[in-house]
Amino acid sequence: YAGVGKTDAEIIEALKADVGYFNIESEAELENLIRLAKQTGKMTKAALRVNPDVDPKTHTYTTTGKKETKFGVDIERAQKIFSDYGKNEAVKLCAIHIHLGSAGHTVEPYVEAIEKVLALIEQLRSDGFTIEAIDVGGGYGADYTTEASPTAADYAAAIVPLLKNRNLKLILEPGASIAANAGILVTQVLYLKKGGEKKFVIVDAGMNDLIRPPLYGAFHFIWPVKVNEKFVPSRRDKDLQLDGTVVVDVVGPICEAADFFAKDRALPPTKRGRLISIFTAGAYCSTMSSNYNARRRAAEVLVDGDKFSVIRKRETYEDLTALEK
Ligand SMILES: Cc1ncc(COP(=O)(O)O)c(C=O)c1O
Repeated sequence: YAGVGKTDAEIIEALKADVGYFNIESEAELENLIRLAKQTGKMTKAALRVNPDVDPKTHTYTTTGKKETKFGVDIERAQKIFSDYGKNEAVKLCAIHIHLGSAGHTVEPYVEAIEKVLALIEQLRSDGFTIEAIDVGGGYGADYTTEASPTAADYAAAIVPLLKNRNLKLILEPGASIAANAGILVTQVLYLKKGGEKKFVIVDAGMNDLIRPPLYGAFHFIWPVKVNEKFVPSRRDKDLQLDGTVVVDVVGPICEAADFFAKDRALPPTKRGRLISIFTAGAYCSTMSSNYNARRRAAEVLVDGDKFSVIRKRETYEDLTALEK
């Protein structure tokens, strides 16, 4: 159970649910967990989230394993925390957790971080502490651009040899690499317009539906749902330029200049009423959506072969105001 700011109520729920390990991010949190474990009579296990100070080479806002971030404890402090709490009976501190960040696109940061952490584990074991598991977190970048991310096999080839015969249970926390390419956001073209030298495609989805481009400078491949044969894209690519495409900004209807999905992107010509797909929208998109600008969240549709079902209804104006008095 990870999270830098777990509340008492959440911790108590997690104790009742017998979670495998609480991933501890500070001495203060560990003290609180010990107090609540004693209070509820539920003993538990914990992993210390160590900050290995490794750069996952992603956006600053999705970097979590550098020293200056709020996550985990500095690797140098880990030994002191084990000497202070490593023999506690209410909370058995017996694992190490790292999570470098999200949307990483190289294997090397994992290798560097795991090597650092394995040295720590050896030291802790020789000091008499039991370390039974290593949780190497998530952050394995989803493939936003065709074949731009290492595969699971690439990660395994680099990581498994490091962890072999270490007598450590291995825990992984992949998120986006599983979910991101399972979803697309379909939006309708409202208007085409020009502004100075620029051409804009104004669509009916907004930054409230998918905020990653303005938030992280994230790339999402965008393409019309239906195109004629000459515009069928060979791959999801930043620089895909087919003859006859038009360079446009794809923007939403919200009153923010940050309300955009793509800037200066070559797209097949489109017009009012046409549908456009924003790809790789299965992670950190609908879960990051909001009602900003009094906008109702989109419906979610599950497609299974040639069948589909609405698994989340489109919000109504009544939903939007339901909690207001
Ligand atoms: C502790 C932890 N583990 C795993 C993940 C999943 O990351 P990703 O979706 O990039 O694989 C996150 C995402 O925020 C996280 O905070």
